[in-house]
Amino acid sequence: MSTLPTHVSLVDVGPRDGLQNEKQPVATEHKARLVSMLQDAGLKHIEVTSFVSPKWVPQMGDNEAVMAAIERRAGVRYSVLTPNMKGLEAALPTQPDEIVVFGAASEAFSQKNINCSVADSIERFAPVVAAAHAAGLKVRGALSCAVGCPYEGDIHPDQVERVVRLMKDIGVDHMGVADTIGVGTPRRIQAAMERALKHYPLHEVSGHFHDTYGQALSNIYACLEMGIHSFDASVAGLGGCPYAKGATGNVATEDVVFMLNGLGIETGIDIDKLVNAGAYISSQLGRPPVSRVGRALLAKRAG
Ligand code: HMG
Ligand code: MG
Repeated sequence: MSTLPTHVSLVDVGPRDGLQNEKQPVATEHKARLVSMLQDAGLKHIEVTSFVSPKWVPQMGDNEAVMAAIERRAGVRYSVLTPNMKGLEAALPTQPDEIVVFGAASEAFSQKNINCSVADSIERFAPVVAAAHAAGLKVRGALSCAVGCPYEGDIHPDQVERVVRLMKDIGVDHMGVADTIGVGTPRRIQAAMERALKHYPLHEVSGHFHDTYGQALSNIYACLEMGIHSFDASVAGLGGCPYAKGATGNVATEDVVFMLNGLGIETGIDIDKLVNAGAYISSQLGRPPVSRVGRALLAKRAG
């Protein structure tokens, strides 16, 4: 049996990835409250919002207000998405700890999501990375469609490695390998991860798995077997990408924490408080949490 990591770091991307897909506007105060509740639960890294075009993603149009409204706590890192210099320039005064540039292993998805080719995206990211570093910020890279694309179908690991290398060349510090539409299965995910690990150290590679086909926990386990110990997850299982039709939410943070607790792997997260955060945002959205663990623990409480 392989040795699994003893500690896992989770980034809750619920306020960003989770809410970006919501059609109805969510009030800034609810977004800020969600961030507070995630901190109460022990999350040490939260992806708060994105500085993208409000015409493309209206839900993130209150990015500055959200960053102003969140209660900052020592030891918690707050990251935001910045696809270009305009986004970075707007983000910097709001004082994020990290920024995220997001590219794709698939040409078609790059076009649909950020309106440019993969090569052009790297050209746009290069000055963003340099300016973020000059401002003392860490830069995470997100690599969408690492195993499958809603437009191109299967993605070969060579395509992943090509973009990983390009991101590394422009100085991106961390590589988040994303299964945008949740079609990955453990061996395919491992094959994509191997390519990221050829260029980034273990502690700078993370998994970001949407759970559309119910494979995300298996895929996280497959990553644990490789020693990978950083993952994105979204409280209540919220999320999706507006430019990846049919893609549902990220793996629910509650589900990941439950599995890791069962494996004896530390996360520093209090699952009951996390369930409270999931219940809170779900009630604001007018539906039960997607998280199976969240629903089970709420039912247990009610019973
Ligand atoms: P574009 O139209 O090519 O940009 O959009 P442009 O430079 O030609 O500018 C057009 C207009 O947008 C101009 O305004 C700009 O000022 C404005 P106008 O003169 O027409 O009034 N603009 C901006 N406004 C605010 N903030 C900005 C910005 N940039 C330009 N940063 C752009 C290019 C990237 C902006 C656009 O395509 C966009 O906003 N896309 C949004 C993509 C997005 O947010 N997708 C979801 C997040 S990624 C994701 O979910 C995947 C991930 O979770 C991993 C995974 O699961 O795969 C990370
Ligand atoms: Mg995503």
